[in-house]
Amino acid sequence: MPTVSDNINRWQTKDWSNRGAEWCDGFGGVQAAWDHALLPRIKAFLPTGHTLELGPGYGVWTDYLRPLSKRMTLVDLAPNCIEFCRKRFGKRRMAYHANDGRSLAMVADGSIDLVFSFNSLVHADHDVMRDYLRQLGTKMKPGAWGFIHHSNLGEYQTEIGAMNHHHEGWRGRDMTGDKFRQACRDAGLVCVFQEIIPWGSPRFIDALSLFTRPLPGQSLPERVERNPDFWHQARAGDHTPGLWYTKPR
Ligand SMILES: C[S@@+](CC[C@H](N)C(=O)[O-])C[C@H]1O[C@@H](n2cnc3c(N)ncnc32)[C@H](O)[C@@H]1O
Repeated sequence: MPTVSDNINRWQTKDWSNRGAEWCDGFGGVQAAWDHALLPRIKAFLPTGHTLELGPGYGVWTDYLRPLSKRMTLVDLAPNCIEFCRKRFGKRRMAYHANDGRSLAMVADGSIDLVFSFNSLVHADHDVMRDYLRQLGTKMKPGAWGFIHHSNLGEYQTEIGAMNHHHEGWRGRDMTGDKFRQACRDAGLVCVFQEIIPWGSPRFIDALSLFTRPLPGQSLPERVERNPDFWHQARAGDHTPGLWYTKPR
């Protein structure tokens, strides 16, 4: 839980009048979230060619990624989100797909340079994340990169029953950082840097995973870190060099 059909019901019936800004209060707003939490983590991979965004909602991050991508494909399970984005961003260099919450069949093999998802696949269970990663193993170009925000709530299996809904934040209950890294390995991808971060409470219930489809012959190590300072760094605009992953030459 939440299942794909729970997600479809929830995101189709939500009041989207704030277009996603409501999830950025903790950062000090959308612009601060982009400047201090997102851009520093992905700027080594921008500008880019073809960006695939999973779960764009009403396009809060699409708006930033679009000028930095030659083209974008947006995939969301909620048709209202895809229709809103289609009207908001238009046809030029953009493709839009409402999916079943797990299929990427509409994306050509070997066509993606960057995968991005933030504030969205935290709501996905392990089976959904595994299906997406399995497909990304062929949809991404060799040498392409991905950044996905997902649940690590499964690490707290023994406490989940006692947590209230607010502390869970409707996260995938059986998803963990370990499972993400394993699903990458199974898909021929490498999770080069995974930050396990607290969200909504001191519990480390989320992860920001950076992964790549390695070039032929390329061998890259995995790195995992728990980052208790995530919120402090984001709110303080701390861009200390070395906090984030640097691309190998
Ligand atoms: C909390 S909203 C966030 C939207 C946007 N990323 C933002 O930050 O404003 C979650 C979004 O993820 C989408 N979503 C949830 N599960 C998904 C899945 N399995 N595949 C594709 N989209 C999904 C929902 O439809 C919704 O648009």
